[in-house]
Amino acid sequence: MFPATRLRRLRQHPVLRDLVRETALVSDDLILPLFVRPGHGIRKEISSMPGHYQLSVDRLVDEVGAASQLGIRAFILFGIPAYKDGVGSPAWDDDGVVQQALRTLKAAHPDVLLITDECFCEYTDHGHCGVLAEFRGRRDVDNDATLANLSRQCISHVRAGADVVAPSGMMDGMVAAIRRGLDDAGFPQVPIMSYAAKYASAFYGPFRDAAESPPQFGDRSSYQMDPANADEALREVALDLDEGADIVMVKPALAYLDIIRRVKDRFGAPTAAYNVSGEFAMVKAAAAKGWIDERRIVLEILTGIKRAGADMILTYHAREVAQWLK
Ligand code: PBG
Repeated sequence: MFPATRLRRLRQHPVLRDLVRETALVSDDLILPLFVRPGHGIRKEISSMPGHYQLSVDRLVDEVGAASQLGIRAFILFGIPAYKDGVGSPAWDDDGVVQQALRTLKAAHPDVLLITDECFCEYTDHGHCGVLAEFRGRRDVDNDATLANLSRQCISHVRAGADVVAPSGMMDGMVAAIRRGLDDAGFPQVPIMSYAAKYASAFYGPFRDAAESPPQFGDRSSYQMDPANADEALREVALDLDEGADIVMVKPALAYLDIIRRVKDRFGAPTAAYNVSGEFAMVKAAAAKGWIDERRIVLEILTGIKRAGADMILTYHAREVAQWLK
């Protein structure tokens, strides 16, 4: 007897497979992270992130031009400042490296979307994501003292040309403080993409080399989330949406696909997922050894993140993917 082929029937013809496909990954979904540093003519490769560089502003302009030729239209900028201090004040310097990059990019590539990461770990000499205070003999980030600085950083970035601000420090009340700051400064139109459910993850390892931002003592588990928690992520997202977040992010992506799905199902809000540096580095390392098919793996990973519920994906694979999807 001919075997039952009920579910296989629609897999027989390639055109039919295309017709019934539920998830389509497109270049419009992608956001490419870029690292900017002071200087001129600098393109310094990040060893744990092959194909990614710390770029001076002039080289960054070339990089954005090349990526936009490939079809990438959204970028998130991280700064490596000329100096660091105890509170991270270079972050809100109107002549800081990110501010300079924003002004130059806006003039050179007016059509791309520029998102800025809003945090202090790259700007503080201790590498933590805000101002420190001592409580019961333990140094920790002072939530409320950090909020005022975050708001200053965002306003400075938006004045320089940022289209969207993305606070990543996991301070309570950060979205409300930034919203108030931007509204008062005359920027009620600028959206906030909040790193709402950001976990204290080992997957950020390569990024900390890239951004020169590892904590000099302790770790980030007093502000980033415990990987074991899921209900708490929903509370984080609820709070951020309530405070005025326009887009909510889950980060990292791969070990947290369940969180992406629950956030999307529960809130139906624009949802971003960050396919972080460690996720990228693992693929690159295995591909370099010839152990995996990089193209198929990357497309499968990003399609999986989108299928889980992400509307957009921040990924270091963006350039290659845009080329493959062309
Ligand atoms: C800064 C920030 C981090 C990342 C994005 N923004 C590092 C951290 O929280 O330690 C990680 C990105 C990546 O690993 O790709 N607050």
